[in-house]
Amino acid sequence: MITKPEDDKIPKHVAIIMDGNGRWATEKGLPRTEGHKEGAKTVKIILEHAKKRGIKYVTLYAFSSENWKRPKEEVKVLMDLFRKYMKEDVKELQKKKVRVSFIGDRTRFPEDMQERMNEVERETADYNDFHVILALSYGARDDMIAAIKHIALDVMDRKYMISNIDEETVNEALSTHGIPYPDLVIRTSGEQRISNFLLWEIAYAELYFTPIYWPDFNEQDLDIAIEAYGRRNRRFGAV
Ligand code: FPP
Repeated sequence: MITKPEDDKIPKHVAIIMDGNGRWATEKGLPRTEGHKEGAKTVKIILEHAKKRGIKYVTLYAFSSENWKRPKEEVKVLMDLFRKYMKEDVKELQKKKVRVSFIGDRTRFPEDMQERMNEVERETADYNDFHVILALSYGARDDMIAAIKHIALDVMDRKYMISNIDEETVNEALSTHGIPYPDLVIRTSGEQRISNFLLWEIAYAELYFTPIYWPDFNEQDLDIAIEAYGRRNRRFGAV
């Protein structure tokens, strides 16, 4: 068994399933959408703290491809929140030289949001201290289907042969290309599922589940998750 060297105790890439906004609000007698608004505040706090702790990449599952099926009013509130977030908070991140990118099917968003996503990615592309990846209208299976189509087309165009397809070929075709695999996945709210999040990329990630609802998740809770990660013994070369 190999224990982690000190510098390996901080995960380089943390992926977070931010769950429990609705229950947080309902238990307080508030509309579910209030939970999302509070959850957006948590995003700010957690990103700030992750950067401080030396984490280099944070991927946030902000809206799944399934979330479009939620009540119209809830989807509208979430869209307004994302739009506001991209206008104000992302501007703040840009000032702090944070790289921001998006994964997921952005074509399903209104034109102005798509333009903003492209603009943010372009403007922050050269920053490499801290990278925030927002998963919006994201589903891992959809992403993998898109990657398979991409690879099939490349084979048809004779860019490479089927026998040359390897892990790297798939990595390059996914929307997460260029981003290292997550080391730690955190899911809040007590659910213990992956819910179609980064299925390929988290094959060897440590999984951390906490009962805390996302709006209540704070800096100390992130520290506890990091600590739990640091205590786990990763036996490299083993499963
Ligand atoms: C899951 O809670 C959360 C979401 C579907 C939305 C996540 C959005 C935010 C945290 C706010 C905005 C984010 C950004 C990046 C600005 P849920 O509604 O499924 O909660 P429940 O399981 O208790 O119903």
